[in-house]
Amino acid sequence: MYNLLKGKRGIIFGALDSNSIAWKVAERAHEEGAEFVLTNAPIAMRMGTINELAEKTGSQVIPADATSLEDIQNLVDKSVEILGGKIDFVLHSIGMSVNVRKGRHYTDQKYDFTTKGWDVSAVSFHKVMSVLYKSNAMGEWGSIVALTYMAAQRVFPDYNDMADNKAYLESIARSFGYFFGRDHKVRVNTISQSPTPTTAGQGVKGFDGFINYAEKMSPLGNATALECANYTISLFSDLTRKVTLQNLFHDGGFSNMGVSEAVMEYFTEEE
Ligand code: NAI
Repeated sequence: MYNLLKGKRGIIFGALDSNSIAWKVAERAHEEGAEFVLTNAPIAMRMGTINELAEKTGSQVIPADATSLEDIQNLVDKSVEILGGKIDFVLHSIGMSVNVRKGRHYTDQKYDFTTKGWDVSAVSFHKVMSVLYKSNAMGEWGSIVALTYMAAQRVFPDYNDMADNKAYLESIARSFGYFFGRDHKVRVNTISQSPTPTTAGQGVKGFDGFINYAEKMSPLGNATALECANYTISLFSDLTRKVTLQNLFHDGGFSNMGVSEAVMEYFTEEE
């Protein structure tokens, strides 16, 4: 490997099981020489296998519900203590829609569910950054990344209210990124990833259809979770210090396609 993160300290949110994008980021960050704390919602500790990852990467796990300021403050304080200094990188890899889970159609949301999903999937990013900013816990030239999906810009009917949550998340990256850049030389970006077979991904109705469609549309094919981790590592490294306030598509080219020959073939009647 390249030692891209040698000596860097991080916090990684969202590793549930070995399919999780955050799991791959943790494995790659470890290979690149970083030390980090793993965190997830207390309930995910019971459902997932995060302790296995902690063992593998020599990390400690600190549970935190990303909607709780108290939990996040505890996480940040303990992480600085455990890692022995300010934080250089943070991954926000969190998403959940109660409307999707309960099978509510986009046009018929239960607004308590909407509010909850928005808090978990979008506002939590603001809360995490707010605690880091006010605690002055990020080191200079640090990097914060959140994961997002292109339904923030284009219509994907079954993505439901997660589309709106992702639009909000991407906006927070820009708005908070301004203050973090100006005051602490910290960069903030979102990575807009291809559909990926994970617990969150497969929760979306029609997932198999649209992962296959995206594969056929993208000149390079869909980006895998491991490829997403590699891209994330590059954004945590010192090689990308002036990249900030961006929504970066990591999707094999999908976002700039109109139609591909492979898709056209499917709709073209034989002569
Ligand atoms: P995943 O299901 O492995 O990860 C989602 C994580 O969010 C889980 O670890 C879960 O425990 C955590 N989480 C949920 N509620 C939480 C809370 N209150 N506090 C703290 N953590 C909480 O799935 P995946 O795909 O790795 O998701 C990671 C990110 O990537 C999400 O933001 C997702 O929207 C995004 N993404 C996923 C794509 C996909 O097709 N899988 C495509 C584009 C973006």
